[in-house]
This record gives sequence, C-alpha cells and structure tokens, in this order.
Amino acid sequence: MIENNFDVSFVANKARREKQIQQNYRPIIGVHKWFARRPGTLFRALLLAEFSNLPLEEAFFKAGELNGKTIGDPFMGGGAPLLEANRMGANVQGCDINPMAYWVVRREIERLDIMAYLAAADDIYAAVYSRLGSLYHTNCGICGSKDAYSKYYLWVKTTDCHKCGQSIDLFPGFLVAENNRHPLNVFVCPTCGQLSEITDRKNPGHCAHCKTSFNQPIAKGNKKICPFCGTENKYPNGKNNPLNHRLFAIEYHCPKCHKGHKGRFFKAPDSDDLAKYSEAESIAAGLNSTFIPEDLIPPGDETNRLHRWGYSRYRELFNARQLVGLEAICQLVSQVEDDGARQALATNLSDLLRYQNMLCRYDTSTLKSLDIFSIHGFPVGLIQCESNLLGVSQGGKLFGNGGKLLGSGGWLNIVEKYKKAKVYCDSPFEIRDQGFSKTNRKSVAIIQGEWIGDHKIGSTSRRVDLACMDASGWIWRKNSLDGVFTDPPYFGNVQYAELMDFCYVWLRLLVPSEAAFHKESCRNIQELTGNNTLGRGIERFTEGLSNAFRAVAKALKPGAPFVFTYHHNDISAYFPIAVAILDAGLVCSKVLPCPTEMRASIHIHGTLSSTVDSVFVCRRGEDFANFVKSTLENDLFYDIKSLKNGGLNVTNGDIRCVIFGHMIMYLISALASDWNKDDIVTVKLDKVSRYFQLKGGMDTVQDLSQKALLFISQKEPKVIQSSLF
Ligand SMILES: C[S@@+](CC[C@H](N)C(=O)[O-])C[C@H]1O[C@@H](n2cnc3c(N)ncnc32)[C@H](O)[C@@H]1O
Ligand SMILES: [Zn+2]
Ligand SMILES: [Zn+2]
Ligand SMILES: [Zn+2]
Repeated sequence: MIENNFDVSFVANKARREKQIQQNYRPIIGVHKWFARRPGTLFRALLLAEFSNLPLEEAFFKAGELNGKTIGDPFMGGGAPLLEANRMGANVQGCDINPMAYWVVRREIERLDIMAYLAAADDIYAAVYSRLGSLYHTNCGICGSKDAYSKYYLWVKTTDCHKCGQSIDLFPGFLVAENNRHPLNVFVCPTCGQLSEITDRKNPGHCAHCKTSFNQPIAKGNKKICPFCGTENKYPNGKNNPLNHRLFAIEYHCPKCHKGHKGRFFKAPDSDDLAKYSEAESIAAGLNSTFIPEDLIPPGDETNRLHRWGYSRYRELFNARQLVGLEAICQLVSQVEDDGARQALATNLSDLLRYQNMLCRYDTSTLKSLDIFSIHGFPVGLIQCESNLLGVSQGGKLFGNGGKLLGSGGWLNIVEKYKKAKVYCDSPFEIRDQGFSKTNRKSVAIIQGEWIGDHKIGSTSRRVDLACMDASGWIWRKNSLDGVFTDPPYFGNVQYAELMDFCYVWLRLLVPSEAAFHKESCRNIQELTGNNTLGRGIERFTEGLSNAFRAVAKALKPGAPFVFTYHHNDISAYFPIAVAILDAGLVCSKVLPCPTEMRASIHIHGTLSSTVDSVFVCRRGEDFANFVKSTLENDLFYDIKSLKNGGLNVTNGDIRCVIFGHMIMYLISALASDWNKDDIVTVKLDKVSRYFQLKGGMDTVQDLSQKALLFISQKEPKVIQSSLF
C-alpha cells in the first residue's frame, strides 16, 4: 500500500530530475504540449507502492504487473497517470472535458506505424521545402554564401506617432543576445539598425557603425517618446488593429562557414531578406485558404489581454510567412491516406503552431525561441521571434539524411520529438541516477516487458476507455476501479480551454471528422477552473469537484485508493478539495509531498511560491476508520527531512504547501463523523474554513513554518516516521 511503501526521498529525487528535463525522462510528452504535466515518475512510484510487494527502489526498475487491474483518471489532461498505468499493463478509463486533451491522450496511447508516419512527414518536408524553402534562405553576413538558413527572425513592434505620423520602433532595450552562448553581447542600433558585438553589456557604449549611443529612450511602461518629434506615444493604442512588426535581426546558420565560427550567426536583414518577406506577403494575399481559421478570439481571463493589444481573430497572431507555410502543411497533411499517420501529422501541425506565431519571444540568454505557451498565458511582448517553419539541421541537409537539428520550433523539431515519443512507447525506460549532483552518472534502464498502447503483437491487449466529457457525467461502473490516480484542476491556476483554443481552432479544421471537435471552442461551462470572465468562483469549483469525486469514488472497489496531486499557494483553494473528499465519503489516509514543477519555471517567483505538490491518498471511509494516529508536527518534519534527502532545496513556500496538505488531512478526519454532504456548498465551505480557523488558521501555519525552518537548519535533525497502520 502507498501509505507504507511510498518513499518520499527516492521519488522526490526522481521527480525533481524529471521536471528539469522532462522530455528525457518521459519522451511521450513530445506528442503535443499540455500544461502543468505532473512527473510520470511520481505516478509510476504511486502505482508501484500500491500494487507491488517489492521495495519501491527495486520495483521501480522492473516491469510493473498491473495486468487485470483497472485504473481511472477523471481529469486526464496530458495523460500522466493513465500512461503510467497502461504501461504497466492495466486497463485504463480516463476522461477530460477538453477535446484537445482527449485528442492528445489518444495519440499518445494509440499504436502508430512509425515508418509510415516518418515517410509521410518526410514527403511533407520535401514538398514544403520545394514550394517555400527559399523564403527561409538568407545571405551569410560573413562569407556571403546565399545558402545560409534563417533560424530565427526577430521582429520589433512599431506604432505610428500620433503627432508626426512616423513609424516608431518599440524597442524595450537594444540587447539582442547575451554573451552566454555567443562570445560577445549583440546590440541593435536604434538609429542605423546595424548590429554591434560588445564586451560590456552594462555599458554598451556606441554603435560600431554610426556611433549612436545605446543610451537612448526605450519603450517602457506602455509609453515611448517619438525619436522624430519628441512626442510621447502610448501603446497598445486602443485601436482595433494589432500593432505592426518590423524585422530587425536574424539569427541564422551558415553551413559553409560554421566550422571555424565561434558562437551564433547574427545579422541585420538585408534587402534580400526584406524581399523574401514581401514575397511571402504577396503569396498570402493571393491565398485561397482552406485551413486558416477565421474564428474570433472570445473574451476570457487570458484572452482579454489579446483584445487589449488589438487582436480580434486568431489568424492575426501569425505573420504572412507563417500563414502561408501553415496552410501548405495543412493541405499536405489532409491528403495523407494512412489514418494513423495523418492523425499524428495533424497533431504535429497543432503543436507546431505554438512556435509559428507572432507571440513567441526570443530568449536573449539561451538564444532560442520561447513558444506561445512558455508561461501559462498569452503575454504580448515588444520583440517577437519567428522560427524557421521547417527547422534547420546542421549542414542544412534535407530531412532523413540531415544532421543534428539546430534551434527549435520547426517542422523537423516537432517530427523528431514525436518520433522519440512513439519509439518510447515500444520500449519505455527509466533513468538511473547515482548521487544527487547535476553532474552525476546516469544510465538508461529499458524496462523489459512494459509498453504503452492498446495492443501489441504477441502481448495481451489492454482496454483503453477514453471519453471527452465532464468527469461527473460519465458512467463510472460500480466496483470497477482498482484505483483512481489523478491530477485535478487546481483552482484558477491554468485556463486550459482558453489557451488550448489557440491550437484547437486549427486542428478542428484539419480533422473535421473528429466527433469531439464539433464545438467551436474548447471552453465548457463545466470546466473546473476559477474564471473571472465567466463568473466561475470557488463555489462553482467546489460543486464541480465534489460531483466528479462522488461519481468516481462510487466506482472504487473496496479498499482501493483514490489518489490525487494538489497544490496552491492559498489555503482557501484547499477547502474545495476537503469538501469534495468528504462529500465523496472518502477519508484521507496519507498526504505525501513531491516536487512537481521546475524550480526555475518562469511563472513561479518569490520565496513563498512552491514547486511541491501534496499527494492526497484517500480511501473509502468505511474501509479505514480512525486511522490518523500520528501528529501533524511529526509528519511534517518527517516529510521535510525526506524532501531534503531527495536533493530538494526546500523553500519557505514548499514548507507552507506541505503544512497546508497536512492540515487539510487532519481537518478532513476531524469533520468526517458529522459531515452532511447534502448541506449547501457555502455551508460546507464555511464549515471547513471555520475548523481551519479554530485550529489557529494561518497563525498555526506560520508557527509550524518557523519550527520547520529551525528543524531543517539543524545538522542532524531527528524524526521518527509515523506509522498510521
Ligand atoms: C491538471 S490537468 C491534468 C494534468 C494531467 N494529469 C497531466 O499530468 O498531464 C486537469 C485537467 O482537468 C480537466 N478538467 C477540468 N474540468 C473538468 C471536468 N469538469 N471534467 C473533466 N475534466 C476536467 C482540464 O481540462 C485539465 O486537462
Ligand atoms: Zn558563411
Ligand atoms: Zn513623432
Ligand atoms: Zn548605428
């Protein structure tokens, strides 16, 4: 059982490493972007702790034996728990309200003829290259070769001065690239537009070409002084059109001279580059498109920002060259005859979109494109990055015989990622790490006997039942599940539907036969996220979660676990889960901490933010009465020590989240005996809140945090593992 067999340190170490570079530990995620994917290693460990008799560290590297078991996930998202269960031989039953999630998990699990897929992907590459490849060529600024390939085009937003009418560049600064992956810092001159390579980033001095000082007014706080007439201009300008962009720099690859060259290749665009873009514009103007969506962007918590910047249709988020290329790929994909290959390639197109739009930014430090979803929102920058549509390989060769891929965000990159994902399905592996340091030795351990999919020649097939619907609306058959392992939506954290619509509006045109794509948007009133625009508050979230938990818990076999991850920086967002657990007649038998996000994630800031989830392990009340025998302090200290032993640098925020999890578990146990699930939701939330306050509320959290901090500062802290059973 998880309660006895789980090993916090071992799993924390694995999960932490996985999240640093998830595609190496779980290449399956390469099928398509999904948000906030929990580590597969965590769910593997939970399943093994529940169903294997071996010590976790040993079981982890052997084939799991879940044949004949059925595992459910009502909120499958990107599919982390289901894929782990399926891989170990279990039948799986999963649903998600979002049609994109449903599509993605099916592509992950379905078997694919990889050779047929790669051949079709190769044909598409060749066809697009012959039609549009020249639009991505550039002249090498060093050797003059005409066969250099643009990796990234950098564009700056512009606005027309409301006084003198001149077009003003909205540079937020003049730095193009830092000297981390390139020998020197690269700056763009606001006057002559040339690039200068400079040693001192803090004092860049003057443009090497026209001697203009780099100490010029920049666009800041949504204002920019016009360099021509000195008038202050505000942006976005409140008009219904998005701002224009001007191409100002290109990062490229020159196969001719890259061998002796140090760092990257940068250039200011020349007349040929501008002409190529104009050519793309004329092709776009004459395009009779079938696959470019005309959908309006609906209002929303995230999409309102796009409206403020003047975008009203999704297609306005793409430039002419992107639209022409995407339409070409869509046409070719739609003509692929093999169903499996066509669906895989359509998924590739959808994933490609996130790099082929004018919201992508250029990371001046790592020198790569940040895709539209690099944070969970639609941030509109002043500098946008357009990646080469097809991708660039070293030597610039065609796909199939090409070399190492350079840069990101092209068709080749997406296909390569997908191929790795599907190869992994046939022979999944784990990574053995020795020690905790970054530089330690790693080895790949293929787990013989495991595979991901619904059938495989020579193996027993497994059932895969997936649905696109509200979790509480599905028929979860009584006594059918040996366990529920899930990652439910966390109140208000990610607006899955608003974000995924960006891909969905394209994919549904490309795959018109998909029944789950009948609606115009992924949005659904039953989606369980807090959303101000749609007036979905905490009560609605609580009711929805409670309905889903009740429906699914009924399907548990006696004694089967209901396990889910949860995380929030605000305690009141935990009250709905307490209500949902109690309503479902479950009790919480253990709360386990596990790091599940990358510490350096752009959207996680500050010391009070946390990357540690609480894993709630619940079972039906009648199966486990009166089990909480430990003390909160004891559990808390044990967990924190275990996280530290797992190599995690535990922050104040992590401690706070661990405390929240434990307090909720104790609270549930205290409220279970006279809980009335038929009370109205406000009364139930109030009961939970009042109990939390009665136990000292945030003062207790504060107090426990202090003690925990003191505890981890001791050299050899001593704690005893509490035994609950
Ligand atoms: C945190 S995500 C799951 C992430 C996933 N476990 C993974 O690791 O990739 C939560 C999911 O719940 C889904 N969801 C929200 N409301 C739902 C509802 N009422 N019924 C079913 N799924 C819902 C969202 O679409 C989202 O995909
Ligand atoms: Zn060259
Ligand atoms: Zn002016
Ligand atoms: Zn200059």
